[in-house]
Amino acid sequence: SLTALDYKVADISLAEAGRHQIRLAEHEMPGLMALREEFADEQPLKGARIAGSLHMTVQTAVLIETLVALGATVRWASCNIFSTQDEAAAAIVVGSGTPDAPAGVPVFAWKGETLEEYWWATSRIFDWSAEGFDGPNMILDDGGDATLLVHKGREFEAAGSVPEADAGDSHEHRVILDVLRASLAEQPDRWTKVAAGILGVTEETTTGVHRLYELAKQGELLFPAINVNDSVTKSKFDNRYGIRHSLPDGLNRATDVLMGGKVALVAGYGDVGKGAAEALRGQGARVIVTEIDPICALQAAMDGYQVARIESVLDQVDIFVTGTGNKNVITAEHLQGMKHQAIVANVGHFDNEIDIAGLEALAAEGQAEKIEIKPQVHEWRMPSGRSVLVLSEGRLMNLGNATGHPSFVMSNSFANQVLAQIELHAHRDRYDLDVYVLPKHLDEKVARLHLAALGVELTELTPEQAEYIGVAVEGPYKVAHYRY
Ligand code: NAI
Repeated sequence: SLTALDYKVADISLAEAGRHQIRLAEHEMPGLMALREEFADEQPLKGARIAGSLHMTVQTAVLIETLVALGATVRWASCNIFSTQDEAAAAIVVGSGTPDAPAGVPVFAWKGETLEEYWWATSRIFDWSAEGFDGPNMILDDGGDATLLVHKGREFEAAGSVPEADAGDSHEHRVILDVLRASLAEQPDRWTKVAAGILGVTEETTTGVHRLYELAKQGELLFPAINVNDSVTKSKFDNRYGIRHSLPDGLNRATDVLMGGKVALVAGYGDVGKGAAEALRGQGARVIVTEIDPICALQAAMDGYQVARIESVLDQVDIFVTGTGNKNVITAEHLQGMKHQAIVANVGHFDNEIDIAGLEALAAEGQAEKIEIKPQVHEWRMPSGRSVLVLSEGRLMNLGNATGHPSFVMSNSFANQVLAQIELHAHRDRYDLDVYVLPKHLDEKVARLHLAALGVELTELTPEQAEYIGVAVEGPYKVAHYRY
């Protein structure tokens, strides 16, 4: 008999609606479905206890059920306060049960969490007492918040106390310290035990990967990591073609403003910025790019975009989009110099690309006013009398104002996630405390799994051709440093 399932979602009665969407998404996620078939008998994730922190969307639901189909036990939270699709969360909790007797996966996620609720939910994916364990043995992370909690928790336990926040610390940093202070008081070795049990983490995004390399460089990484982001079939597809789809989706649902003829600025011309610029140009906007890297700036220029500093074009731009993974890209001063009803949106992982804290400080002094147009759409009235429209309070707007990337592209990303989980779970002994990418033959495999659905006819090398270019007929076809 099942013990009552532990979970917190917005509305469990949305499960049926979520199940319909998941069913349709499965058809659009051939990579994940092929892995379910390939590994059905082998059950390579048997014994894996996965703590997942990744946007709780319909696509993630298909990922979760794939992990379970391969033998894993899973607990899940979202990695953003606005990104959960409540119907998907409900369906995953209900699983093969009913809303009254759910039999699926414990999910702790709903759209519109406070930061306190968010970090509570993140800490819940590490509580495996209901399953009879000290913690998970795998982390599946997006942006590194789950990994951060374990590292900080263990660090403070080793020090014997959680430091007081500094005056300049963000509200979110204070919330994390509070969560860890409470846990230290309750169980002084909780995170030490959790960390010791973890075989590894697989990380989804650019920003999370950046954090992992920093930890590895400082010798502080507690378990090996697979960088899923830098699989070619992840960052060159999800970051780019995913954004190309979900950025305009978010802009439309939030504002329905006509993009054609407008001036749009894209900050950052990496994988995400390239997709954003292409989407906006596709809608007829005139796109200006900002970059700090001369290579990416030159790429943008060769692709036909104006490349400028934000200060030079501030009063011309109708739609601002940040996707740099950097902070203070749009400052409070920039915000005050913008056109009336300029739209300001971020698709980078964290909310510090746009200085919302600066706006809030202005509001606290009575200089700016925040008016809610609808959830995740706010008009900020500036001292000048002009307004700007801020989407998703500066957080990932393609997930906050829309439903994130579509299934087909996420099937590529998540097939890499599943392969990375299988690898680290089975072969922890092959890895040091470092960050790794999946081997190229697996990257090529992920792409291969998605060809038939698009009617792609792949040309096969003849043995003579293969020998001539120095590769095996069955691949891999490129050297490791090839950039695609
Ligand atoms: P990337 O490293 O390929 O590109 C970022 C670009 O921003 C770089 O070319 C860099 O030179 C540039 N940059 C840095 N500071 C800048 C500044 N101050 N002004 C102008 N440009 C600047 O990274 P990628 O993969 O494009 O990811 C960007 C962000 O988007 C990351 O935070 C990542 O985690 C996130 N992301 C979001 C997704 C979503 O669904 N919204 C999907 C995938 C990634």
